[in-house]
Amino acid sequence: MDVAAWCSQSQVWVVAGKGGVGKTTITATLAATAAAAGLSVLVVELEGKHGLGACFGREGPVGYEPVTLRGAGPEAPETLGKPPAGAVWARRLTPDDALIEYLADHGLQRVSKRLVSSGVVDVVATAIPGIRDVLVLGKVKQLERAGVADVVVLDAPATGHAMTFLTSASGLLDAARGGPVRQQASDVVELLRDAARCRVLPVTLPEEMPVSETIEATQVLRDQVGIHFGPVVVNCFESGPSELEVPAADAARATGIAVSSPALDALDAARAFRLRRLGLVEEQVGRLARELPLTQLHVPRLFAPAIGPTELDRLAGAMARAIEALPAPDAVR
Ligand SMILES: Nc1ncnc2c1ncn2[C@@H]1O[C@H](COP(=O)(O)OP(=O)(O)OP(=O)(O)O)[C@@H](O)[C@H]1O
Ligand SMILES: [Mg+2]
Repeated sequence: MDVAAWCSQSQVWVVAGKGGVGKTTITATLAATAAAAGLSVLVVELEGKHGLGACFGREGPVGYEPVTLRGAGPEAPETLGKPPAGAVWARRLTPDDALIEYLADHGLQRVSKRLVSSGVVDVVATAIPGIRDVLVLGKVKQLERAGVADVVVLDAPATGHAMTFLTSASGLLDAARGGPVRQQASDVVELLRDAARCRVLPVTLPEEMPVSETIEATQVLRDQVGIHFGPVVVNCFESGPSELEVPAADAARATGIAVSSPALDALDAARAFRLRRLGLVEEQVGRLARELPLTQLHVPRLFAPAIGPTELDRLAGAMARAIEALPAPDAVR
């Protein structure tokens, strides 16, 4: 399938998964893939860690004002309004920022900063569980409505919190009878239920625990909220090189290289270890396919000390090829 068309199926992509499975890396990979296909991309980050910028070679966390991670110019000029085609911008959203903007938009500009610095969000959050998530997603909805970029990629919190993050709005909708909170929650739920506007991209590793959690979480999100999913990303996917099929002694004989017997034993032990690992990957990927009816998008494990711009380009290339190999739009649920 055409990469730009695939990325444009929804304007907002929420990248979600268990802690440490590669959400931030896949957020960066999807952003780089979409940008390489000529789209303008805004990445929304919630936690202020360093990983996202580092993937693009930027030091330090991303702040509230948009910054350019890829494309022309060191910083995003606000006057541009929207990233140019092929560029990636990023900004961080927090419940405090979202509340300040919400209050300002509702005629309370003069008091908004003071209210927020006095810790009102904490008081409100205690009184109304889930309001933080609804504030942030409400801001994402506003960005989407304003058409801030062709594609908005949201790096969601780790599963435990991601579940509440994505279910809070429908919970609040059930609890609040009226008023602005209900309106905000209702707008967020509407966004989350509309496949043309928003999809969740679940990320997992080909390992038992993350696979089980992904299967469970996607079912809950689909049943409770009516969320639509893209394919499930299997990050750190590994498939064996063909050399693994040949025992070390045979390879040595075939190539005429003299290898000592302890070295052959060590090579065979390494080969057995890799084969066992690949068997486990295959087993978990098979289980995922049986228990979760989503197309799989395999992103390879890179054997690199860290993911920087060069590694990111390799991952984005692999993602683009996997997308091109996807059968048809209706296979994406
Ligand atoms: N495909 C890959 N190949 C190699 N290393 C990877 C790959 N994907 C992720 N990593 C590495 O794995 C680690 C965890 O990835 P990442 O930070 O993206 O996970 P996360 O799900 O965002 O974690 P957290 O829940 O802490 O936010 C990082 O060191 C990252 O560089
Ligand atoms: Mg992360």
